[in-house]
Amino acid sequence: MAWSYIVLLSALLGVSWCAEDWTFPPGFKFGAASASYQVEGGWNASDKGESIWDRFTHTRPQNIADGSNGDVACDSYNLWQTDIDNMKALGLHFYRFSISSFWPRLLPSGFPNYTSEDGKRYYNDLIDGLLKEGIEPMVTLYHWDLPQTLQDLGGWTNPLIADWFADYARVAYSLFGDRVKLWLTINEPLIMCDYPFNSGLLAPGIFSPDHGTYLCNRHVLLAHAKAYRLYDEEFRDQCNGEVSIANHLLWYEAWTEDDEEIAELARQNMGGRYSHAIYSEEGGWPSSIEKVMEENSKKKGYCKSLLPAFTSDEIELIKGTYDYYALNYYTSRLVRPAKEGEELTVYPIGDIPDLKAKTGTRPEWTATNSSFIYVAPEGIRKQLVWLKKTYGDMKVAITENGAPDLGGLNDQGRIDYYREHLKQVLLAIKEDGINVTHYTAWTLMDNFEWAEGYSSKFGLYEVNFTDPLRTRTPRDSAAYYANIIKNNGLKADS
Ligand code: BGC
Repeated sequence: MAWSYIVLLSALLGVSWCAEDWTFPPGFKFGAASASYQVEGGWNASDKGESIWDRFTHTRPQNIADGSNGDVACDSYNLWQTDIDNMKALGLHFYRFSISSFWPRLLPSGFPNYTSEDGKRYYNDLIDGLLKEGIEPMVTLYHWDLPQTLQDLGGWTNPLIADWFADYARVAYSLFGDRVKLWLTINEPLIMCDYPFNSGLLAPGIFSPDHGTYLCNRHVLLAHAKAYRLYDEEFRDQCNGEVSIANHLLWYEAWTEDDEEIAELARQNMGGRYSHAIYSEEGGWPSSIEKVMEENSKKKGYCKSLLPAFTSDEIELIKGTYDYYALNYYTSRLVRPAKEGEELTVYPIGDIPDLKAKTGTRPEWTATNSSFIYVAPEGIRKQLVWLKKTYGDMKVAITENGAPDLGGLNDQGRIDYYREHLKQVLLAIKEDGINVTHYTAWTLMDNFEWAEGYSSKFGLYEVNFTDPLRTRTPRDSAAYYANIIKNNGLKADS
């Protein structure tokens, strides 16, 4: 029976669907994610270099809600085997982690003149340990912990970073490419470029909304493209893996039916600015955003657009550098044009001054303890449909999705969040024909939640941060997720 027919019939009869209807396609993969600075600790272990998050938390603790840092975090630097045991208990098919601390742990100077033996050992142990349990490693090369040495040279605002990143990627591919088949170059360029530079409140602590944001945007796309091309040229034949970039997309929805135009502009600004160059047929910046940026720059008195142009070679270099779309989805926003004189706030994840756009939320989108996350499950399906409509049919991996709370083992809110989002993913697969292949829960265990420190909890496992042993305890959501994995889907009554 056609899926749409079942949906219609169920709606008409007001009955819930039978268990099989909530099953994912055979071979669908479930995983969980983490990031080096958020879990590893061992911030100065052995010869590890300093990262921008080490520097930021040590010098500006006032910018972290509880004044904490990732010096020890979950101590996964020492407790990685316990983490693997917990993943095994969940039945994970894959684990997404980032190499820190890849960069500073593996290349303490930031450059490939010298590779840390300790860094190699740590990531080899982790990768081999995962594979031994049949858990596939999905590796992010960069989840925000830039070597401070490179920041001192301008970090993501220096165009040379694209080559530095590719040099680092070569080291990672050659050390681990025989075993790692799923690569992500960079995590959430939107959150690592727009939010730090628009606020100055996240590492590297530099406020430069006019320039920093857009230089970073441009160089991230070039760095990703160079690392992708390098994989094609030097590794793909022997290693046979897949490479992409993880984008954080908020679903922007028209506030009223008259606001569709600004909603689409918001999608292009917050998603297209980091996707169009890679996934669209023509490449480069989204033309609507180029136009807005040109006008804005002129109004601000600049003689050139603040959105730095790509050369035609660069457009070709970046275009098509993906093997799948990696989507991080947490939440949605309503959007409408701002009224005359209305105040616009950018951080955290707020209004969009470049577009003179005001954002808001629907009353039925429940708030969480994070001012950024409102629970809007339909947004993930709408986002998936938009991706297909905008960039065509492609494989999509959901590389992050999850919700925070204030702690405790009974986390019904998180269970509800996962269930409702997974239902929407299933509808996208079965009703809209989207080729979603992976789903990744954020996150395996509570960890250092950037500016929120340890005050906000996202874990399937609770971590006791006052215990030197950093004991991990499964929450109710861990059992729930383990069941979903075991059944390859949701039960009608769960
Ligand atoms: C980031 C994670 C973060 C999560 C929850 C994502 O944007 O990739 O590092 O912990 O959001 O805030």
